[in-house]
Amino acid sequence: MLIDRQLPFEAVKDESRVWEELIAPGLNLPKNVFSICHYGFIEMLNNVIDHSVATNVSIRCDRNDLQTKFEIIDDGIGVFEKLKSHFDLVSDVHALMELVKGKLTVAPEVHPGEGIFFAGKMFDRFMIESGGLSVVFENDTCSVHAIENQSGTRFSMKIANNSNRTTHDVFSRFRDPNDLTFCKSKFFISLAAFEGELTSRSQAKRVVARFEDFKEVELDFAATDDIGQAFADELVRVWPLAHPSTRLRIVNAGESVKKMLKHVMGRSDLPQPQNAVEINIC
Ligand SMILES: Nc1ncnc2c1ncn2[C@@H]1O[C@H](COP(=O)(O)OP(=O)(O)OP(=O)(O)O)[C@@H](O)[C@H]1O
Ligand SMILES: [Mg+2]
Repeated sequence: MLIDRQLPFEAVKDESRVWEELIAPGLNLPKNVFSICHYGFIEMLNNVIDHSVATNVSIRCDRNDLQTKFEIIDDGIGVFEKLKSHFDLVSDVHALMELVKGKLTVAPEVHPGEGIFFAGKMFDRFMIESGGLSVVFENDTCSVHAIENQSGTRFSMKIANNSNRTTHDVFSRFRDPNDLTFCKSKFFISLAAFEGELTSRSQAKRVVARFEDFKEVELDFAATDDIGQAFADELVRVWPLAHPSTRLRIVNAGESVKKMLKHVMGRSDLPQPQNAVEINIC
């Protein structure tokens, strides 16, 4: 273990200083991996500083020959609790659904709401534990499971020392190449399925909330066996009709899901959006 320290909040108030004094000198990593570690560490410690209202922060960094791992744990309000109360959301899962879309912030005058979205895609494995949920982003998937309720927030991230990913690769997947705005998002439908079967319009409305802030959203249907007609109709017909500036890209849909999506998109007796939804065949 390179670092394993529990520090009072007052001692970590400058995230760059903590990085430069405690972490960076011992790391010795290829430049691209070093930059990813820098981004993840700085952003998550800044989250603790600006959002957690914590008293103590634990910082751990472990590097072996193969991989580098960080943990930043605070004893504050908890990320899902913070989002629930600020945005009046109904559950930790609802807060998570909003968080994974990106551009979610409680302080838009000083934060764009990008840190967790991008860090979650840079590391080989990025985990958030808070409230009653454990969430893991790994290999372009997102999985969630219930845990015993815990206060505060634990961010945990690891990356192979020989990874060839760069921060630039990850930013450019979701940013406009011309003006660099954060214009694309990705949503995991399995998160919406965590609290029940995907049958109703209100569940679909929760999925599409704030999608109009992006030009394109990838909807990943991995691990979703079935969807109901009202859910599908709201998702790929009603919402796109009202929001023609956002394009939805459906990926990883199984046969049964594709059949239902195609059914509602094929209704010629109802108004249909023009070229607003693309179903990826593979
Ligand atoms: N440790 C934490 N404790 C409590 N709330 C948190 C914590 N980390 C993040 N949050 C909440 O999650 C939101 C999203 O965090 P994220 O890092 O993605 O964006 P941001 O910090 O608002 O903006 P940016 O990171 O782009 O400066 C924050 O606005 C905050 O409400
Ligand atoms: Mg942040």
